[in-house]
Amino acid sequence: MTLRIPFVAAFAATTLMATSAFSASLTVGFSQIGSESGWRAAETSVSKSEAQKRNITLKIADAQQKQENQIKAIRSFVAQGVDAIFLAPVVATGWDAVLNEAKDAKIPVILLDRDIETANKSLYLTAVTSDSVHEGVVAGEWLAKNVGSKPCNVVELQGTVGASVATNRKKGFDEAIAKHSNIKMIRSQTGDFTRAKGKEVAESFLKAENGGKNICALYAHNDDMAVGAIQAIKEAGLKPGKDILVVSIDAVPDIFKAFMSGEANATVELTPNMAGPAFDALIAFKEKGTVPPKWIQTESKLYTPTDDPQKIYDSKKGLGY
Ligand code: AHR
Repeated sequence: MTLRIPFVAAFAATTLMATSAFSASLTVGFSQIGSESGWRAAETSVSKSEAQKRNITLKIADAQQKQENQIKAIRSFVAQGVDAIFLAPVVATGWDAVLNEAKDAKIPVILLDRDIETANKSLYLTAVTSDSVHEGVVAGEWLAKNVGSKPCNVVELQGTVGASVATNRKKGFDEAIAKHSNIKMIRSQTGDFTRAKGKEVAESFLKAENGGKNICALYAHNDDMAVGAIQAIKEAGLKPGKDILVVSIDAVPDIFKAFMSGEANATVELTPNMAGPAFDALIAFKEKGTVPPKWIQTESKLYTPTDDPQKIYDSKKGLGY
């Protein structure tokens, strides 16, 4: 199991979960991306329960994958005079103008699960995210270890074009496999983080690569696309997890089901609890003036079928995936 020690643990220990009368006075607007994946559904559901634990009023705006809807939602939160804005940015660029409006209104913004590209880091208070380059490295190293010196052609299902996590997960994986000349990336395309698109793109990969016979492994930037691809591999008459190795990211319950049936091989966990550390950082900032670090890093853990998939599946079932 690969574990990157996250900053979030150390930071949480210094702030503790705040359930004071002060936190009950807070209203937070959350511009959420949408519901493209099981992970996203869990993040929304966990955000609600983390707000409830602290008696914080949380207003969630679903952007249905569109940056323009996120910009409108932020403007509306500013007009409502919320105490803070949480933003899960669908893409990395194009936020400066609207975040300047929030800054002018003295409303702190906290980024959740994805980063933005800006020259002005003062536009947000902190970002609660994993190290998504590292996630790609972990997936790539797992593959290299498991194929050994055998030649291996890899196909990749990328996340949403322009999303920081898609760029970074690709970068990390590419870096890891570059050290192994027997591993080659032969096709890479976006599946937009959805199961349906993952299946559709995997079908086109299989068709173009001799019905899948030229493919040794599939790397998907999230489990939902991997689950769609597993279906496509089966429909092509091959055995996912054996004929084609499957490695992905998120650790949603369905990938543990796939572990149990031998159809997936590895996943890197992304916690759906981004809001908890964000609320604690916000409360400490608002109540005591404690400025959080610019990056609150969540942990990234590798799981394989040897990690008791039934137990992990059961532990995740109630989280809204
Ligand atoms: O930003 C996190 C990513 O967004 C998750 O890995 C993916 O499932 C989601 O759509």
